[in-house]
Amino acid sequence: MNAPIRTNRPSLDAYWMPFTANRQFKAAPRLLVAAEGMHYTADDGRTVLDGTAGLWCVNAGHGRRRIAEAVERQLATLDFAPSFQMGHPAAFAFAERLAAVAPGPDGQRLDRVFFTGSGSESVDTALKIALAYQRAIGQGTRTRLVGRERGYHGVGFGGITVGGLVNNRRVFPLLPGADHLRHTHDLARNAFVRGQPEHGAELADDLERMVALHGAETIAAVIVEPVAGSTGVLVPPLGYLERLREIATRHGILLIFDEVITGFGRLGAPFATDYFGVVPDLVTTAKGITNGTIPMGAVFAGRHVHDALMHGPEGAIELFHGYTYSGHPVACAAGLATLDIYEEEGLLTRATELQEVWHDAMHSLRGAPHVIDVRTIGMVAGIELDPRAGAPGSRAYDVFVDCFEKGLLIRVTGDIVALSPPLIAERADIDTMVSMLGDALKRAA
Ligand SMILES: Cc1ncc(COP(=O)(O)O)c(C=O)c1O
Repeated sequence: MNAPIRTNRPSLDAYWMPFTANRQFKAAPRLLVAAEGMHYTADDGRTVLDGTAGLWCVNAGHGRRRIAEAVERQLATLDFAPSFQMGHPAAFAFAERLAAVAPGPDGQRLDRVFFTGSGSESVDTALKIALAYQRAIGQGTRTRLVGRERGYHGVGFGGITVGGLVNNRRVFPLLPGADHLRHTHDLARNAFVRGQPEHGAELADDLERMVALHGAETIAAVIVEPVAGSTGVLVPPLGYLERLREIATRHGILLIFDEVITGFGRLGAPFATDYFGVVPDLVTTAKGITNGTIPMGAVFAGRHVHDALMHGPEGAIELFHGYTYSGHPVACAAGLATLDIYEEEGLLTRATELQEVWHDAMHSLRGAPHVIDVRTIGMVAGIELDPRAGAPGSRAYDVFVDCFEKGLLIRVTGDIVALSPPLIAERADIDTMVSMLGDALKRAA
């Protein structure tokens, strides 16, 4: 392991932790101090198998020297450069490399790249690009944004407006005029499915209903996760994304795929756009773009979107948007090294090789205590548990803590366990995950 193991814990008071029950956590903390390959090391020295690629981001596994060295070199050469009316080579080089693998088929790749610092920033950036695009093509009445129930698009005001998670929304004022498609999760018709479920394509017609309700001329864009990750691994029904694309096109509505989780190989193709063969107008990414090492995101835009905004006097700034850290040189260096690894090790398509083993292993949990559904696609699995009466989420949380104590990191959302290991996982790692999770389920009350 590449860091000393510290058993002397720092004081936990000052750090206000994100998306965490702070008081509960600080009473019984779980601290990670090192990571290598498929494993973390906890601060008591235990090895913890990473079933979640950190937080859906460490696709090439932990402790990659090549990324560390690239970051070190970049820091020593050019630590920071402003990106407003200035440039530096690493940002252009990284954008070019990304353009070559950008979502979409040859000739239709979304190969114009806007850099951000996170998934939330990518989402807000894409929504703003969509609004700016509509105005640029003379469709300025299109200001309405459409999301989907149970969507997670980060925590910016744009992202929570189109997102569909009540706890992320109820306390905060939202952007006006947004609307939501229904989610596609349908346990009654689609339980225990490998890959795409059969039923539910018609739910895409909700967009048609929105057009009938609001008028197409008020709707700028619709955003969905091709596979919803954070809200419990919701796989799109067969034909659903195709139908959404068709309706959006027919009504001049931009289609945005939020690929913050599905981007960079999670499903077995570089992007979900490629996996499903449905091409949106904008794609948001983050996480795996730097293997989780340095915060970064990117929005991929189709040429039609980008080019529509490249108008007006040459000296005019075309899009009044950007971040201090857009195209940060160190993040770009990390991203370039990450892409090298992905390409050399075939990781952007490795999930295709692993998925039979993965699906079999995960579906072997059918029949385990409390399991009411298992769904799998690419290298992702959602295992839904029967909630305890009056205490939703508590059973999965107990399983999460139990797994961590025994040496497996899983992710839970409500009563759904989500697994998404690094794409370097071997069969033995998958077997270990399934047996540890199966044992934890047996122990769970
Ligand atoms: C689909 C999706 N969009 C956006 C985000 C937000 O990304 P970040 O946490 O980097 O802001 C996430 C994070 O999990 C995500 O899963």
